[in-house]
Amino acid sequence: DEEELQARFDAVIAADQKIEPRDWMPDAYRATLLRQLAQHANSEIVGMQPEANWISRAPTLKRKAILLAKVQDEAGHGLYLYAAAETLGVDRSQFLDDLDAGRQKYLSFINYPTLTWADTGALAWLTDGAAIVNQVPLCRSSYGPYARAMVRVCKEESFHHRQGFDALWALTHGTDAQRAMAQDAIDRWWYPALAMFGPPTRDSVHTEASMRWRIKRFTNDELRQRFVDICVPQAEALGVRLPDPDLRWNEERGHYDFTEPDYDELRRVIKGDGPAGRQRVAHRRRAHQAGAWVREASAAHAAKRRARAAA
Ligand code: 3HC
Repeated sequence: DEEELQARFDAVIAADQKIEPRDWMPDAYRATLLRQLAQHANSEIVGMQPEANWISRAPTLKRKAILLAKVQDEAGHGLYLYAAAETLGVDRSQFLDDLDAGRQKYLSFINYPTLTWADTGALAWLTDGAAIVNQVPLCRSSYGPYARAMVRVCKEESFHHRQGFDALWALTHGTDAQRAMAQDAIDRWWYPALAMFGPPTRDSVHTEASMRWRIKRFTNDELRQRFVDICVPQAEALGVRLPDPDLRWNEERGHYDFTEPDYDELRRVIKGDGPAGRQRVAHRRRAHQAGAWVREASAAHAAKRRARAAA
């Protein structure tokens, strides 16, 4: 009965083992997983746009090849995550319809524009860096398909982060104009990257339950602090300034003190605001419609192969 199933589920979570698709799970656990997996997958898919904007204008063939590979990886991450979400019994076409209709979210940073080439470096260094800090604990998430998808995603994300650092390194070791361009990009991307970790823990509606279920392992604030602590020495190595006059080492806490992102702005951007918000969703809808013939052709091809195999 329900009580026994719940007890078995609780025991699996308490033993730090995995819940698998065929296992019984509470409705609220399934709902929160679907919510987070859909948001996560959508972020990878819509998150291709800010950098794809620069593929045709990359400064060298090598940078172009790297950027192409990175953007393709993000499409792949979206697909692993939709596949993980499908194990909960919802078809990916439903997620895509919900995304296009504005019923589902994606991460806020994506609604900011990429204005210069240096933005591709700053985005990869900062937002992929933040994504790694967030996603490494998700490799131990209690839901098996989510945790396993994260292992590969994190490996690829580390390459993305590293190439962003490398692109910025080239600029900060270049001309004065290149150094200024790198600094300007970091000035604009620092706070959107900090906001990726979500609202402060005290205002986070889902953290308590998600931590109890071991979907999340750390609070939004813990991960944000970890990210800041990691970034400071990397910024020093790059020779750039993080745009926060109050950023300083706190001996007592053993962490850097820093200025929190503007959470009112985050709330607005989550609702679709942000300089590039409308453009991102419109582009996503256009790309989906333009790809209809590919989906139809591959479905027709699969049907033909099935018919041939059956004959
Ligand atoms: N942007 C958009 N929405 C956000 C957000 C943000 N930065 N932070 C929080 N939210 C939303 C939550 O989704 C939730 O909305 P909902 O109730 O409608 O689902 C609401 O705000 C309340 O926030 P909570 O803190 O209570 O929500 P969570 O406990 O789910 O924590 C989270 C938020 C930390 C973002 C968590 O959902 C999470 O870890 N998600 C997966 C992270 C992710 O998407 N990573 C992908 C990175 S993208 C990427 O790598 C592409 C890059 O390479 C270009």
